[in-house]
Amino acid sequence: MERLDELARIGRFPGRDGSTRPGLGAAEQEACDLVEGWLADEGLAVSWDGAGNLFGRLPGSDPACPETWTGSHLDTVPNGGRFDGALGVVCAIEAVGRLAGDRARSTVAVVVFRDEEGWRFGRGFLGSRAACGELTAAGLALGDADGISVAGALAALGHDGHAPGSPLPGTFIEVHVEQGPVLEGEDLPLAAVSSIVGMAGFVCTFHGSAGHAGTVPMGARRDAFAACAEFAGLLRERSLAIAGSVATIGDVRIAEPAANVVPGRVQASVDVRAPTSEALAALVEATPALAREAAARHGCSSEVESSWRSEPVTLSATVAGALRNAAEELGVALPELVSGAGHDAGILAAAGVDSGMLFVRSLNGGASHRPDELSGEADVAAAIDVLAAALRAAR
Ligand code: HGY
Ligand code: MN
Ligand code: MN
Repeated sequence: MERLDELARIGRFPGRDGSTRPGLGAAEQEACDLVEGWLADEGLAVSWDGAGNLFGRLPGSDPACPETWTGSHLDTVPNGGRFDGALGVVCAIEAVGRLAGDRARSTVAVVVFRDEEGWRFGRGFLGSRAACGELTAAGLALGDADGISVAGALAALGHDGHAPGSPLPGTFIEVHVEQGPVLEGEDLPLAAVSSIVGMAGFVCTFHGSAGHAGTVPMGARRDAFAACAEFAGLLRERSLAIAGSVATIGDVRIAEPAANVVPGRVQASVDVRAPTSEALAALVEATPALAREAAARHGCSSEVESSWRSEPVTLSATVAGALRNAAEELGVALPELVSGAGHDAGILAAAGVDSGMLFVRSLNGGASHRPDELSGEADVAAAIDVLAAALRAAR
């Protein structure tokens, strides 16, 4: 818990309770450097790959045997909480530390994947996608709001962005906060994750005409923000009509913003998710049409650019079974939950790795992506016990 507090202080700005560690930024790198020291203190063999992913390995007896990885991410959303990502890294260090005396064939590694959240460059899971060989030239060319590319940010941190050095593991287990209210509502400490919802991202741009806030009559305006606001309402209505889906507009940028200028161009992020491919497809296909309809109502035009899409992914039943056996031995019930949040474990599962997740109860009504994100010490301790036992079983 002290380590989580120490990590939380990295990227904390005056007057804000949360941490802000954008992917491939100095604060994320500082957090990784701190963890590198903890890995070395555990006697693990430390290494970095070309995407800046950090590894701490406990060698097994047979280097030809597929490795077993456990870990998560250290970047955060703006003003984020102490547990999202960091908990999975700290639990992995504790659990792997307990395996030091074991004689096992498979090497076990703690892994920190870079830029999982993706809000800086507009696409998430950079480190885990790179580990799976999915970081393309286009991905390296993505730029942030200041025009710095992924490749440039990696180079500034001393990473070359090339394909990672090590083959994928046979098994990956990620401990993560639930980020929802279910376990708290049922008074349960832990859960295994059965699947991760499908998700898709877009950038929607609304083009109107800028003008003087005082002299353009309301009826003559082509107000790009009014079009965007209308779109937000239409998208919300459509998602409410598609069972289990969610739609979020979390990043809106008015070009040349000023209180006394009618917005001429507005760019909005769209994040849509659904538990089935059919529901996801319905929402994905509706998005451009809803943007066009909203724009037309305000004499504007719209452009919709797809940023990413990943189908719902089922996690490993083998790993879930190992987690359940471990929990049963500890007398802990282990229900199964679907994750509405995306995770690096989903990227590895889609790449064919036996990948699973252990959720830890989120308190405060499941608050997450907020400074008051909270999990209890006893639940964290139980997660470390279950993870250590499941890693032993996997090796
Ligand atoms: O957006 C997500 O689901 C995760 O927090 N990256
Ligand atoms: Mn996370
Ligand atoms: Mn997150």
